[in-house]
Amino acid sequence: MILPQPQHLERRDGAYTLTNATTLRADDASGPAADALRRALGPATGFTWGPPSDPASAAGITLTVDAARHGPEAYSLTVTSDGIEIIGGDAAGVFYGVQSLRQLLPADAFSSSRVDRTWEVPAVSITDRPRFGWRGTMLDVARHFMPKAFVLELIDLLALHKLNVLHLHLTEDQGWRLAVEKYPRLTEVGAWRPETLVGHAHRPESEYTFDGTPHGGFYTAEDVREIVAYAAERFITVVPEIDMPGHMLAAIAAYPELGNGFKPAEVWKRWGISEQVINLEDSTLDFCRDVLAEVLRLFPSPYVHCGGDECPKTEWKASESAQRRIAELGLADDSADGSGDPGGDTRSPEDALQAWFTGQMADYLAAQGRRFVGWDEVLEGGGPARLPDDVVVMSWRSEAGGIEAARGGLDVVMAPCQYVYFDYYQSEDHDSEPLAIGGHLPLAKVYAYRPIPGELDAEAAAHVLGAQAQLWTEYVPTTEHAEYMLFPRLCAFAEAVWRDGSGEIDEYDVFVAERLRPHLERLDALGVNYRALD
Ligand code: ACM
Repeated sequence: MILPQPQHLERRDGAYTLTNATTLRADDASGPAADALRRALGPATGFTWGPPSDPASAAGITLTVDAARHGPEAYSLTVTSDGIEIIGGDAAGVFYGVQSLRQLLPADAFSSSRVDRTWEVPAVSITDRPRFGWRGTMLDVARHFMPKAFVLELIDLLALHKLNVLHLHLTEDQGWRLAVEKYPRLTEVGAWRPETLVGHAHRPESEYTFDGTPHGGFYTAEDVREIVAYAAERFITVVPEIDMPGHMLAAIAAYPELGNGFKPAEVWKRWGISEQVINLEDSTLDFCRDVLAEVLRLFPSPYVHCGGDECPKTEWKASESAQRRIAELGLADDSADGSGDPGGDTRSPEDALQAWFTGQMADYLAAQGRRFVGWDEVLEGGGPARLPDDVVVMSWRSEAGGIEAARGGLDVVMAPCQYVYFDYYQSEDHDSEPLAIGGHLPLAKVYAYRPIPGELDAEAAAHVLGAQAQLWTEYVPTTEHAEYMLFPRLCAFAEAVWRDGSGEIDEYDVFVAERLRPHLERLDALGVNYRALD
């Protein structure tokens, strides 16, 4: 019934009936969870719960933090005919207890309008905790801008599924979505494109047509503060991504001096991987650090994602300044094994140059007390040994980068496209689905996903912080479409990162019948445009 499935749940006889006279008592640390409970159940029930007049009364709902009883994010939830007690190991644990409590009620408890009925909570004893500390979802707000209201709605949905990281992919070739005070043209110019490719990019460019409709948008500092605060109240960390040194065409269009000068730069109107990347001159590195400085002011996240994916080396190979930098740094005859034998691995001097850039950004972030996160291409300059040891690798092309990084002692977030890329088709019959980037990622495959690859030993496995679902939005122009791609796959993903991976998991059919189908009624009440089950 509860999704993600709690680690331990025992049904008991009886039930507790919620009324407007129910009292709600919370210790100081449980204040946000108490607010969340009132916010969640107030609209449907009309109940406005206050504290008991007799502080010693054990009846009603009590929310408490007790770190001696449970670990971080863990909780117990006990319902008897006398009352409801949630004890969390920390404030997040109590909040997750509240999310479970909501799901013990009928689905219409999720309605945004008043429902006239009795509200019985079945008696249960639950103890629960997450398997992974990083339970993420990435939203690409750059290919198609997603309005703040949708980001807030998504944060509520992540919280309902006990997910705790929202990674915002803020910059791309096709748009720059974060206002940066020092560089106003990033949004004046970089946040807008005059039109967008119609249909799929995988066809001859001679056949390309464009929609003639300008597209754009960005978040102001005020918007970001609101998003970050809204997320924090729901125990979600917003991890910002500034994708560098590739995927920077919108920035280069705004400030051409960031580029390599081979061709004029425009905010891209099509999808794919642009060969136009930033140069790595001192002034450009200063720009990157300035942008990160603004990011650090706005986002309190301990983790800052600096991209690093899909950076073609064509321009650096032809660029005098990049070649000069390679020579100055002695990267031309360098090798990953330190033997000075350039034949020792497949790394090019330009790969080594990107690894140097990664190190520069990681050092800058470390000096500010934050950790660099990068896509798995950051390993290409010579593997984990060549990176600062606090770098986090997000493994997307497969699990291989994550395995290499974890074995090399780096922390890892698993995000392999084969299992958790929600821009992939949900059916093999593409004609029955809206246009998507490709691939095939059915719900059952997401459900079966296990973030720790079998070949990792315990020491390496301990470096896997968790996993993350990705929604890239080249082919996802609207928020309704984003919901369609995210749900119900995100429900299955929530189970993959919450459940204890040590034992057997329910058959997929059991998951669907016992947990997902009742859960979809909740998503109906919330008005989520999920894809129907097959
Ligand atoms: C990616 O999908 N380029 C990280």
